[in-house]
Amino acid sequence: MSKGAILTDASSIPEVVQAMTLEEKARFVAGARAFETGPVDRLGIPAFVPADGHNGINFFQLLGNIIPKVLAKRGQSAGELRDPFRTMSDVGMAGIGNLLAGNLDPSNIESLSPENAAFLRDLSQAVQESLPEGGLPSCFPPGMVMGATWNPELVGECGRAVAKEAKAFGVDVLLGPNVNIHRDPLCGRAFESYSEDPYLASQTVIDYVKGVQGEGIAADVKHYAANNQEYMRQGIDEVIPERALREIYLPAFKAAVQEGGCWTVMSAYNKINGEDCALSKRLLTDILRGEWGFAGFVVSDWGAAYDRIQALNAGNDLEMPGPQNPQEVIDAVERGELGETTLDERVSNILGVLVKLPAFTGRERAAIDRAYSSQVARRVAVEGAVLLKNEDGALPIEEGSVIAVVGENAKNPIATGGGSAGVVSPYMVSLLEGLEARFGADAVRFGEIPANASCVVISVGVTSSEGSDRASLALADEDTALILETAETCRRRRIKTIVVLNVCGPVEMHGWIDEVDAVLIIWLGGMELGHAAAALLSGDENPSGKLPLTFPRRYQDTPSCLNFPGEFGRVVYGEGIYVGYRYLLKILGRTSFPRARIRVFANVT
Ligand code: GLC
Repeated sequence: MSKGAILTDASSIPEVVQAMTLEEKARFVAGARAFETGPVDRLGIPAFVPADGHNGINFFQLLGNIIPKVLAKRGQSAGELRDPFRTMSDVGMAGIGNLLAGNLDPSNIESLSPENAAFLRDLSQAVQESLPEGGLPSCFPPGMVMGATWNPELVGECGRAVAKEAKAFGVDVLLGPNVNIHRDPLCGRAFESYSEDPYLASQTVIDYVKGVQGEGIAADVKHYAANNQEYMRQGIDEVIPERALREIYLPAFKAAVQEGGCWTVMSAYNKINGEDCALSKRLLTDILRGEWGFAGFVVSDWGAAYDRIQALNAGNDLEMPGPQNPQEVIDAVERGELGETTLDERVSNILGVLVKLPAFTGRERAAIDRAYSSQVARRVAVEGAVLLKNEDGALPIEEGSVIAVVGENAKNPIATGGGSAGVVSPYMVSLLEGLEARFGADAVRFGEIPANASCVVISVGVTSSEGSDRASLALADEDTALILETAETCRRRRIKTIVVLNVCGPVEMHGWIDEVDAVLIIWLGGMELGHAAAALLSGDENPSGKLPLTFPRRYQDTPSCLNFPGEFGRVVYGEGIYVGYRYLLKILGRTSFPRARIRVFANVT
């Protein structure tokens, strides 16, 4: 064993690995807690922090690192306190919001036991100390909106903006981008990723990765591979023809590795053709490293290393979350089930990235540059918005107009979807606020259509989340009814009807689109949604976004509809390479709305 070895740079890694004990190596290939790895202090190896996500820092995850430290400081164990997160939920969403902002209000905890109240006061203090100057992270529009910009350079700028905030929060590995292909529009996480088309996804991810890593933060391209549904995601066996795998589902990962130079990749929860992704030597070693030359580290999705030793043998370097029992790895080495040279390779791969990360190079806990982040978030929302319809000069809304606004969504916008891509940002501009800021509060009427109204803007929202797929592409019945009723009123009064869609992906429109004059998709538009929408509706900005995935006229027109989300633990990719518009062009030879590039719904009769 080398004495005096210390991690100084990449060249010191072989000596450091040689100096590590088997137990140190066994600990190092798994997290120490949910979103932090463990250090090896005697060798100068620091811990590092992986956290989501693609469109902004998920501060809740960092809270998971703060809580154990608060408990330790209070000499408590989580068990004594019940579950700290349940304790937090006792204070309600308002209380959690205050807690996340580091200013817990006494009224939030007066109903709690003295012990829990004291814990939350200490937690609030610790949060306040951990928040960078500038406060909570910015919520950028998620991946689908980035894809809709068709502007890789802008997406690269967004990657840079997210990475700058990652540094401010002490995050080293950004758990994104999500490049999974939109195989089926019902996928609960479709909002997170770029496109149904592998070429658009490939061209977009390259710049995003470069933007992130240009700031010294590792991008973590996920979920490798083909995590294209939420139903039974941990274990569903996706039966994918080799041609479809190679031509549709792998290209964006290959581009991220070979042209983006991504430092890390996340292995997915699902199986492909009978093999768990995190346990697949073919995916993690033969293709990723052997064919593509990937030289970074593979981290499992959280809990995806279903067989720890098989994962290490297959090429999964880091298992998350932690902590895990190092003895299992030690025993496997001693039993000859895991070669120590293989374990050394896993450790070396992680160290090879770690020496590039702020945890090692030095953290600059700079303040959040909110003006910059807000500008980038607004730019992505503006350039990602798609104008699907504009007839009879409905748009732009002219100066001096009296604008009626209907739909609760206008006041309660959806900035991003649910799950690990959730971002609690310090502000959120609603469509109503955006219109009032742009046209003046006197020009905007919410919830009514005054006699002197020039037009009516109807705002409806649909969201989705990690953990479950959408049940249908239909709007809520009450939203469809609101659109039809409002359109009827507008027709009688000879004023224009404008629909703004704050949606997570495709929605069926055939029941109402012919009744309205204009349709603007603002998507899940991030914290600057309202300013972006108002700029587009007023003509200050030109709607230049294009659909990154097909909006089928009906869900039944989707090529995967007969094979989604699968049954008995299997989902067969029966459509092969004919995903989205490829199917429509192949089968129908035509689609409508060619200007949208990727087809808006096909009039499949
Ligand atoms: C989740 C997601 C993954 C995320 C990870 C850590 O289960 O699948 O996208 O980065 O766990 O939150």
